[in-house]
Amino acid sequence: MSEWVTVGAAADIPPGHAALVDVDGTQVAVFNVNGEFFAVDDTCSHAEASLSEGELDPEGCTIECPMHGSCFDLRTGEAISLPAYDPVRVHRIEIVDGVLRVAIDETAVP
Ligand code: FES
Repeated sequence: MSEWVTVGAAADIPPGHAALVDVDGTQVAVFNVNGEFFAVDDTCSHAEASLSEGELDPEGCTIECPMHGSCFDLRTGEAISLPAYDPVRVHRIEIVDGVLRVAIDETAVP
């Protein structure tokens, strides 16, 4: 596992919103789902779309890719609808004194 990297203030990402952050050269999409934060690879596993620009479903805890509409479970990274079938990596995320920190999961295959 990699080191924790500070990516910004939690207050800058309100519930229902997302942000694209750079974690040591890795583009990571951070989502606030009803106050709980999730971090996954920003690039869709199907093609070169940015998941942080997709539509967040807080009830299902999923993100819909803005290009072809595949949905990914933010808890597991699993692709739950086609055309994507490979998962995206899920990264560890925590809040320390109001600051978001992400640790890249280097063990998973993107
Ligand atoms: S680029 Fe995401 S579903 Fe095609």
